[in-house]
Amino acid sequence: MNIEETINEVKEEFQKMFAEAHDSESLEKIRIRFLGKNGRVKKLYGKMGSIPDESKPVLGKELNKLKQQITRQLEARQEIIEEEKKKQQLEEERIDVTLPGTRIKTGSQHPLSLVTEELEDIFISMGFKIAEGPEVEDEYYNFKALNIPEDHPARDLQDTLYLDDLYLLRTHTSPVQVRTMEKTKPPIKIIAPGRVYRADELDASHSPVFHQLEGLVVDDKITFGDLKGTISIMVEQIFGEEHSVRFRPSYFPFTEPSAEVDVSCIVCEGKGCSLCSRTGWLEIMGSGMVHPKVLSMSGIDPRSYSGFAFGMGIDRITLLKYGIDDIRLLQENNRRFLQQFK
Ligand code: PHE
Repeated sequence: MNIEETINEVKEEFQKMFAEAHDSESLEKIRIRFLGKNGRVKKLYGKMGSIPDESKPVLGKELNKLKQQITRQLEARQEIIEEEKKKQQLEEERIDVTLPGTRIKTGSQHPLSLVTEELEDIFISMGFKIAEGPEVEDEYYNFKALNIPEDHPARDLQDTLYLDDLYLLRTHTSPVQVRTMEKTKPPIKIIAPGRVYRADELDASHSPVFHQLEGLVVDDKITFGDLKGTISIMVEQIFGEEHSVRFRPSYFPFTEPSAEVDVSCIVCEGKGCSLCSRTGWLEIMGSGMVHPKVLSMSGIDPRSYSGFAFGMGIDRITLLKYGIDDIRLLQENNRRFLQQFK
């Protein structure tokens, strides 16, 4: 085969392969086969040395033309392929700006937060400060410093969630009383809202995790009258003036005397219904005069100072205030439920 025939054969082979190449990879393969370092065109140039001089200009031109032709064709098709790719990409990534957007729903405050903040505001307006204590407590602060004896049922595994021999999850916010008295000299006037834990099964009215708000006032000449006045104002403000408050004698190891506080039933207003078990009253908190032993264990001299304390269930007050009949609703975070509280 002379060199002209070879040139023609290369041309034909190229055109045949080119006709079938429709993607970048096939084009690249063809480029290497014809224009690469050991490609067919390169080899043809190599043969130029062995042809008669008079044929060189013509064949040289031929070869250059062939090389340009191949280069141009390959480039042109590569361009088309890239154009196509771009078009396809634009098509795929097209955004329909007329589609309605996803509405972003704004949250609302949780009813427990609303009530906690309302209670805080009421007490702050009466001069109380907010105190805090740890949720992981030890036996001393949760029981012993509150005059709760070793054999008290509250200390039982059935009621208290122990973490180990020493540490437990606080069963009430009363340990904050002790922690506050230990580090502050009277006058003391604090509330301590927070989470508490008990070994209870979850049902409509019980939860192993709930919230309390503790109150503590210590000064000279603090009386049971101060306790009654403070609580009455708070109840009026949270439930409305039409509700009455009742103090019923009770017992807590850390207060003496102690009283349970009831509010007139928010459903039947004292007539008796199923919510108040026909008594006309709803229990909302425990309270009393701080026991002298508790004062002295915390470093406050009971001969110079007296105080009162109270502890209310925030969850219970929330249920009563909003007429919710299941404590689990406060934990499930169902948006349709929560959205009702604004
Ligand atoms: N700590 C008590 C409880 O959890 C409530 C309470 C607090 C009672 C302060 C009296 C004084 O039941």
